[in-house]
This record gives sequence, C-alpha cells and structure tokens, in this order.
Amino acid sequence: MDRYFVVMKLRKRSKCVLAAGLLFLLTATVGKCQVLRTDFYSSTCPTLNTIVATTIASHLSKDITSGAPLLRMFFHDCFVQGCDGSVLIDSTANNTAEKNAEPNQTLRQFNIIDEIKAQLEKACPRVVSCADIIALAAREAVVQSGGPSWNVELGRRDGRISRASDALTLLPPTRSDSQSLIDDFETIGLSVQDLVTLSGAHTIGRAHCFATVRRYIGFNSTNGIDPTLNLTYALQLRRLCPLPINMQARVALDPVTPNLFDTQYYRDLLVNKGIFTSDSTLASDERSLVFVREYAANQSSFFEQFPLAMIRLGQVGVKTGASGEIRKKCRVVNKL
Ligand code: HEM
Ligand SMILES: *[C@@H]1O[C@H](CO)[C@@H](O)[C@H](O)[C@H]1NC(C)=O
Ligand SMILES: *[C@@H]1O[C@H](CO)[C@@H](O)[C@H](O)[C@H]1NC(C)=O
Ligand SMILES: *[C@@H]1O[C@H](CO)[C@@H](O)[C@H](O)[C@H]1NC(C)=O
Ligand SMILES: *[C@@H]1O[C@H](CO)[C@@H](O)[C@H](O)[C@H]1NC(C)=O
Ligand SMILES: *[C@@H]1O[C@H](CO)[C@@H](O)[C@H](O)[C@H]1NC(C)=O
Repeated sequence: MDRYFVVMKLRKRSKCVLAAGLLFLLTATVGKCQVLRTDFYSSTCPTLNTIVATTIASHLSKDITSGAPLLRMFFHDCFVQGCDGSVLIDSTANNTAEKNAEPNQTLRQFNIIDEIKAQLEKACPRVVSCADIIALAAREAVVQSGGPSWNVELGRRDGRISRASDALTLLPPTRSDSQSLIDDFETIGLSVQDLVTLSGAHTIGRAHCFATVRRYIGFNSTNGIDPTLNLTYALQLRRLCPLPINMQARVALDPVTPNLFDTQYYRDLLVNKGIFTSDSTLASDERSLVFVREYAANQSSFFEQFPLAMIRLGQVGVKTGASGEIRKKCRVVNKL
C-alpha cells in the first residue's frame, strides 16, 4: 500500500513534466505541480547557503565524522514519504516516527539540522522548509568531504506524516541482494545506475559494529565469515569490532579513505571489501558491475553522475506549491 502510494506520486510527477512541455495549454496543471528551482530562496533567504555551509564546517572541524550522517539522512528522508523532512519528526505519545523505527535506524546529527533551522528562523522566519535544509546539508557534507558540488533544487514543503512502519517497509535492508535493491530503487523511479552511484555515498561515514557483525562473526555454524567478504578485511573487522560487541562502537564504511569523498568505495567493492551485502552485491551482478568498474577507474565520471543522481533522488515524492507546510521546528509538525 505504501509502495503504491509512492508510485502514484511518481505518476503525478511525470504528468508535471508533460504539463511543462504543454505550458501554454495547461497553465492550471502547472500551477498545481510547481517544480523545484535552484534559486527558490534567492530573494526570500539570501543567507541560506552560507548558514548551512558554515554550520556544517564548524561541526566538521570538531568532528570529522559528523558530515556523513547528513548525507544518509537525505536518503532516508526521500525514500520514505518522499523528500519532505518526515525523517526529522520526533515520535509523540500517539505516533512512533520514522527515526525511531525498529530496528533502530541509527541516524545521527539531528542537532545540526536544529541548529541550522534556528539560525534560519532568525534570518528569514518561516521561509525555508526542513526538507530543503536536509537537501542542502547533504550537498555540503559531500563538498566539505572533497566531493563534487552542484546547485541543489529547492522549494520542497514539509510533510506532516512520519511513521516508523513506513521506514521499516521502504528502506532496503543491508542483507539485500542486487535484485531487491534494483527493485527498491525502481519503485521510486531510480535506475540501476542511480543505485550504484548513490551507494557511492558509502565512501564516507561509519557503521555501528553491531550492524556489520553478521558478515564476519557467526555467519554460519562452521565458518564465521561470509565467503563473499575479503578474508583479510574480515579479520581486520574482527579486530576493529571485537567481542563482546560494544553497542556504541563504529567502523569506517570505506576502510581505505574513510573521510574522503572519492571513488575508493568502488575499488573496495572490486576486492570484496563492501561492508554490507547490499554493497558487495553490486560487484557480483553484471547490471551494476559495469558502473562499479566505470567509477572505480574514472573519478570524473563519478563526480559527474553523483550530483545528477542526488538531484533525481531529491525529486522523489516532493510536496510543492500549496501542499505541505513550512515547519517552524523540524522535529514537530505545525499546530493547525
Ligand atoms: C542501497 C541501500 C543502502 C543500504 C542497505 C544502506 C545501509 C546503511 C547502513 C546499515 C549504514 C550504517 C548505519 C549505522 O550502523 O550507523 C549506512 C551508513 C551510511 N549510509 Fe547507507 N545504505 C544504503 C544506501 C545509501 C545511500 C543511497 C546513501 C546516500 C546517498 C547512503 C549514505 C550513507 C552514509 C553517508 C552512511 C554513514 C552514516 C554515518 O556515518 O553515520 N546509504 N548505510
Ligand atoms: C493522541 O490521541 C488522543 C486521542 O485520539 C488525542 O486526544 C490526543 O490529543 C493525541 N495526542 C497527541 C500528542 O497528538
Ligand atoms: C537508537 O538506539 C540507541 C541505543 O538504544 C539510542 O541511544 C538512540 O537514541 C536511538 N535512536 C533513535 C533515533 O531511536
Ligand atoms: C559455512 O561457510 C563456509 C564458507 O563459505 C562453507 O564452506 C560451509 O559450507 C558453510 N557451512 C554451512 C553449514 O552452511
Ligand atoms: C583482499 O584484499 C587484498 C588487499 O587488502 C587484495 O590484495 C586481495 O586480492 C583481496 N582478495 C580478494 C579475494 O578479493
Ligand atoms: C571519464 O569520465 C569523463 C566524464 O564522463 C569522460 O569525459 C572521460 O572521457 C572519461 N575518461 C576515460 C579515460 O574514460
């Protein structure tokens, strides 16, 4: 049912594209399906980019691992209910929100979004949506980690629905094989190439040890190591995440250049060092392997495609025009 809902939204989006082509005939429809624009806040909040960039820079200077969670937040926001800031909403007495989905989604750094929002509410009150803050923060996390830059499309409005059950059914599990990942991405209108390109986000950031142990401890009764994982790497992970597992301990997703947004992730995949099954599977299916090989060999190609894939991800199920709202606080929906 949730998936059906997402597909319906995508259908609406393609109608928008069509309507834009027939602009003079269908102005009424165009009005309803206002598209995102890179200059959406240029007159209403000219300091927006600076506020987002400086806040993230100040956090990164204190903690180099604080940027990656913002990139992941964008993925989780867009995959569930569309890019509408639903990932930021706190649970209430009546509702368990996406961020508290069981098993725990391990998202972090919501405080950075709160800080940005607080400054924006002073500079340009009730103007910038929380959904757009996530989109901008994700771009900054990439740029400030050495990755490519791009103009972020803006004008999303915030949703009022955030359900843990949606996060559980819509976000791909780490055990996913290539077919289920391809299907999950296709459901929201993204291609195999988008899947491989966006998975390149795992070139920065950390995973909790507990989320990774299945690959190298107790994989089966006779051998604790997943045979598809590089043995040297598996033994390294056992040293980095020793038993008993510390629930706070984290380990780099890219063991070689963990803080640098580069193409090392793809070279890791080619020597069986994808930390999750959802990573390593990309190198064992011909449909995704072609892109893994391409990016492993050509950083310009990855740096050209990553922004385009982020822009497509950022268009999923967006609320624009009169739908949704501009939240006053990113953690709570506005009082009606
Ligand atoms: C394709 C399916 C994907 C799966 C199954 C997956 C799963 C995960 C998991 C389990 C973690 C570790 C979380 C933790 O234990 O703290 C993680 C981290 C991360 N993911 Fe993904 N992910 C996927 C795709 C993506 C995409 C598309 C993006 C962004 C475009 C992304 C960005 C990140 C980042 C940046 C981190 C590091 C977060 C941190 O340092 O706290 N992932 N992912
Ligand atoms: C929870 O639901 C009850 C009954 O449906 C309602 O009276 C109450 O206001 C709700 N509380 C919140 C925090 O939404
Ligand atoms: C996830 O679980 C940890 C440990 O139980 C807890 O500290 C954290 O607040 C939880 N995060 C979310 C978003 O539910
Ligand atoms: C466990 O994994 C090893 C290594 O791949 C394999 O040789 C063995 O057959 C597996 N054992 C069982 C019981 O599945
Ligand atoms: C495992 O990783 C090492 C580098 O650490 C590499 O030399 C080796 O070829 C890899 N093995 C496999 C099977 O990919
Ligand atoms: C690498 O990718 C860029 C951008 O797509 C392309 O222009 C260039 O020709 C590629 N280089 C090689 C060696 O294939």
